[in-house]
Amino acid sequence: MWINITFWDNKKILVTGGSGFLGSFVLEKLKEKRINNNDIRIPRSKDMNLSRLENCINAVKDIDIVIHLAARVGGIGFNREYPATLFYDNAIMGIQLMEAARLASVEKFVAIGTVCAYPKFTAVPFKEEDLWNGYPEETNAPYGLAKKMLLVQSQAYRQQYGFNSIFLLPVNLYGPRDNFDLESSHVIPALIRKFIEAMQSNKKEIVVWGTGKASREFLYVKEAARGIILATEKYNKPEPVNIGAGFEIKIKDLVELIAELTGFKGEIKWDTTKPDGQPRRCLDVSRAKEEFGFEAKTDFREGLEKTIEWYKSNILKAEL
Ligand SMILES: NC(=O)c1ccc[n+]([C@@H]2O[C@H](COP(=O)([O-])OP(=O)(O)OC[C@H]3O[C@@H](n4cnc5c(N)ncnc54)[C@H](OP(=O)(O)O)[C@@H]3O)[C@@H](O)[C@H]2O)c1
Repeated sequence: MWINITFWDNKKILVTGGSGFLGSFVLEKLKEKRINNNDIRIPRSKDMNLSRLENCINAVKDIDIVIHLAARVGGIGFNREYPATLFYDNAIMGIQLMEAARLASVEKFVAIGTVCAYPKFTAVPFKEEDLWNGYPEETNAPYGLAKKMLLVQSQAYRQQYGFNSIFLLPVNLYGPRDNFDLESSHVIPALIRKFIEAMQSNKKEIVVWGTGKASREFLYVKEAARGIILATEKYNKPEPVNIGAGFEIKIKDLVELIAELTGFKGEIKWDTTKPDGQPRRCLDVSRAKEEFGFEAKTDFREGLEKTIEWYKSNILKAEL
């Protein structure tokens, strides 16, 4: 009788940030692989703060695969208020965890970067080769550069120790279970919440940051999780890989689309004293397709509808 051995058989997996937005979908994908719950470790920050070396050492004990998603993340307002925290926590967590993983002879380390690591001005779509061609947009730089150090570390560890670490660069994510707290949320959940709250309180206008001229790319969170799992299984090279949807939308069009989908009919005012952030964002997604067959499929409008639905039946319902 033939037994089908898969990549995941007999592996112990550490998923840092496994309780977060993206992490929850990565865990769903791992469950589809029929991995036993006992073989997946998910450290929580309150009892295993990974900014501390001893916790990193404990977290990787007896682990074969590390998927490092834990991070401090936020939208443009959060980035402006907490640049030092974003730099320190993200850099120190990654650097220590990878070193601990190497010392513990972990088989593979999957480091998650971010589109915020790209230079502010670079040819669109962003190609992985252009990652070092300039400084990131200022509000993103402490977060983006802290995460980018994991690419340098991955490549150096591969060269000197033969350590199998890969580095993926997801674009902005959205979807169910996103952070809808206006203090720290990204643009899509913030807009959904603002429009729905405006309708509830009969507000006739809402104010949006910036000019609306900047463009962004968004990837449905389930797709990002699928890309990460595919890369974990199949990709073992030093070069970074973009994980994106390969499309671009102007913030003005995004705002109008979310207004339509939430049913908001009032006026949209632009606060042009607030920054736009990076002028354009769209990833070249060809390397992920060539190297491990990843291609995003979820239609943007459909993904937004699911996200709005999730917000209404979870957060909104709980708050009423
Ligand atoms: N969301 C996006 O648009 C996006 C885009 C590109 C890349 N990424 C990357 O994707 C990853 C996941 O992001 P996300 O949006 O899912 O973030 P998230 O929902 O905020 O989740 C982050 C997770 O990190 C954990 N964490 C934070 N600080 C920690 C610490 N000191 N020790 C241990 N755990 C800690 C948190 O654990 P607790 O819950 O236990 O506190 C949380 O589960 C991050 O690496 C991020 O940079 C995200």
